[in-house]
Amino acid sequence: MKLMVVGGGGREHAIIKKLKENPQVEEIFALPGNGGIAADATCVNIGAKDIDGIVTFAKKNGVAYAVVAPDDPLVLGAVDALEAVGIPCFGPRANAAIIEGSKVFSKNLMKKYGIPTATYEVFDNADAALAYLDTAPIPTVIKADGLALGKGVIIAMTREDAKDAVRSMMLDKVFGKSGDHVVVEEFLEGPEVSVLAFTDGKTLVPMVSSMDHKRVGDNDTGLNTGGMGTVAPNPYYTADVAAECMEKIFLPTMNAMNAEGRTFKGCLYFGLMLTKNGPKVIEYNCRFGDPETQVVLPLLESDLFTIMQAVTEERLASTPVKFKDGHACCVVMASNGYPQAYEKGYEITIPAAVADTVYVAGATRKDGKTVTSGGRVLGVTAVADSLPAAIESAYRKVETIHFENAYYRHDIGARAMAAYKE
Ligand code: AMP
Ligand code: GLY
Repeated sequence: MKLMVVGGGGREHAIIKKLKENPQVEEIFALPGNGGIAADATCVNIGAKDIDGIVTFAKKNGVAYAVVAPDDPLVLGAVDALEAVGIPCFGPRANAAIIEGSKVFSKNLMKKYGIPTATYEVFDNADAALAYLDTAPIPTVIKADGLALGKGVIIAMTREDAKDAVRSMMLDKVFGKSGDHVVVEEFLEGPEVSVLAFTDGKTLVPMVSSMDHKRVGDNDTGLNTGGMGTVAPNPYYTADVAAECMEKIFLPTMNAMNAEGRTFKGCLYFGLMLTKNGPKVIEYNCRFGDPETQVVLPLLESDLFTIMQAVTEERLASTPVKFKDGHACCVVMASNGYPQAYEKGYEITIPAAVADTVYVAGATRKDGKTVTSGGRVLGVTAVADSLPAAIESAYRKVETIHFENAYYRHDIGARAMAAYKE
């Protein structure tokens, strides 16, 4: 069978490597893929947001199954468009992808169905938002409504920072139309946990939990990034917490989407904060997380393609989804300077001995070489019997990979170790 994976980052590389384990899979097209993914798939220079281009390519090239991985094409209706020409897909339709595409939608959904989240107010004009901030509890959190490349969230520690955030989103439109509506919400505290779940709208199966490291610097300092590393499972996410999340958050969310006529099929991502008043939803994503996928899929024992097809065909209840007992750690190697300006075009060397678990995000092919082309260049994952062994092994692999200007955090997993029990 010929498969197509839409997207071109480390997450897509991890998905592609896992899909290849299924002997039915003959060829995988990656649209657009990248210079590192090219070792595992046929990269096609069609952008992930070019829905017409994606559909035309899939029809012409006999694609039997498609995985749409990034948020943009999902929100834009890539799954709807592919299904319309008879191509089965993994991923939600646009009417369900809105759970990530609009923060106003997701906050209102949680309120309507009693799903625990930060209390909030929605504003559609700046004056009202600014007036509200005169008396709102501080710190507070300001969120642009639409997709904003993960940058649309401002944690304001002072009243003036909160007002500046509102002005830049609503008046200066730094995120374009995403700033037409903003959510001002309660500041929550506690360990963060990412839980990805397979769901076909009838059954929901959480995957192993994970912990992202969003700040660029060691000890969680510096700017927010797309994610500098991950570990799985997340030691803060105990069996008791998992049971509470299933009962109060995961199943109620699946049921709420069904009740709204927006059945969610695909991977639903729960960004949770474990507060002293119980777990609360920080955000939903309508897709696999990046770089969570790079630690979750290496721990998946069952066959990914079989599970994805079961989700599409609404047979998840009768399909085994098993994870290994081990631990995984992924360290992201970035271009120095990221998430701001950085140099690129440097050759990347990855020893064959570690290539299996290297997931490339920002690389291109040039003059027969693989060279850096992005801020986050690649993620290196190690799986081991214990968390400390996984961390140590991931860093040992990192030391064998070279490109000029490489930067990575040295403390991925350190926070998890604080809660880790052998
Ligand atoms: P998001 O883009 O929604 O994932 O938000 C980015 C990050 O901002 C999250 O991972 C949290 O660390 C933080 N954050 C978002 N909402 C809140 C909140 N209500 N209270 C505290 N931190 C938050
Ligand atoms: N790692 C967070 C995300 O994928 O949005």
